[in-house]
Order: sequence, then structure tokens, then C-alpha cells
Amino acid sequence: MQIFLDTANIEEIRKAAKLGIIRGVTTNPSLVAKEGSSDLKGVIQEIASIVDGPISAEVLSQTPEEMIKEAEEISSWSPSIAVKIPVSAAGLEATSALSPKGIKVNMTLCFSVNQAILAAAAGAAFVSPFVGRLDDIGHNGMEIVSDIVEVLKTYQYPTRVIAASIRHPLHCVLAAKAGAHIATVPYKVLIQMIEHPLTEKGISRFAADWQQVGHG
Ligand code: G3P
Repeated sequence: MQIFLDTANIEEIRKAAKLGIIRGVTTNPSLVAKEGSSDLKGVIQEIASIVDGPISAEVLSQTPEEMIKEAEEISSWSPSIAVKIPVSAAGLEATSALSPKGIKVNMTLCFSVNQAILAAAAGAAFVSPFVGRLDDIGHNGMEIVSDIVEVLKTYQYPTRVIAASIRHPLHCVLAAKAGAHIATVPYKVLIQMIEHPLTEKGISRFAADWQQVGHG
């Protein structure tokens, strides 16, 4: 499973990129707005200069025609762009028009297996089931991820499944076990994935033992 970072915070992206384990970045309008910037193009291009891999930027248009126009504009910002388009009737129409042109689409706000099947049929490069938001309303978000992975595999769709709306480290473990191709994680969750108290304790003990025999 590849790890993407789910943030528009440049400092977090720089720090995470240094680890060498980030294969892409996803943003959405809320994440960009949180950083206080209205310059989506500038933010996305800066992210693309830091991370080598797909960078998702979302359209805000509502009609298929406007979505297509906006997606074409966004995809011209960098060769790494995956345009995020919601799984709606308008979004499916736009994705079906964009995919044959070689524009990578990440169909977002996916909450069901049926929506994922339609995203794959429209030629989306990625589909993003939102795990945490399903859990929030009492559904098992990860079950949807697992079912989507299974169905897309059965019919050999090349669409890659991004487990999104990840809220804690256990979500990452379960996404990997469910066969998600990618988990897009907030920076805080990435740090939680790294840290373990026994690792910290072990590092301190090795250093202390080594010092006792006259080193350091
Ligand atoms: O990028 C989309 C998604 O990951 C949002 O997560 O926590 O706002 O549901 P959340």
C-alpha cells in the first residue's frame, strides 16, 4: 500500500517528503482553505515541486461542462495532477469525457461500492472512499474499502483505490489489510504510524548501555 499525504500544509509536506516514503498528496478545498490561501494553483504547484507522485486538486464547478473546463485548467498546472471530481451524475459525465483525453481523475466523496463501480466505469484513475466520514454516521467505512477493492479486482478495472478520510493509525492497518492501493493520511496520523513507545525506550536503553562501557 502506498502512502499519500492528505494535507495542503507545505511545511508538513516538506517534513514528510524528507522521510522518502510519500508517493503522492491529496488536497481538497477545505484543506487548502485551512492554510489561508486562495491561490490554489500556487499551492498545488509548490506541492508538485516537493513530492514526486500524483497531486490531487479538486474542482468546485457544479455542471459537467464547467467541471471539464476547470479540470483541464487544473491538469495544465503540472504533469503530476490528478483532478478530484465528486462521484455525482455531473462528475461521472465529466470524468467520462476527461479520462479518454489522458487526464487523471480521482473520483472523490465516494461512500458506496456502487459509486466506485461507476467511477471505474467512467475511467477514473483513482477512487476515494471516505472511511472516517462513513464511520461518523455509524457505517463500517473500511468494509466499503474492502468490497470496492474486491469488486474492481474481479472486473480488472485499473482504477486505484485510495482509502481517504483516515482518522487514526488503525485505519491505515485496516486499509492495508483491505487491499487498498493507497491510504492518504493526515500528517498527524503519519507521525502516529511511525512512533512506538518501545522503539523510543529501546533507543534510550541501547544508548545508555553503550555509554556505560565508556562510549559517548
Ligand atoms: O481528502 C479528503 C478526505 O481525506 C477528508 O477527510 O477527515 O475531512 O473526512 P475528513
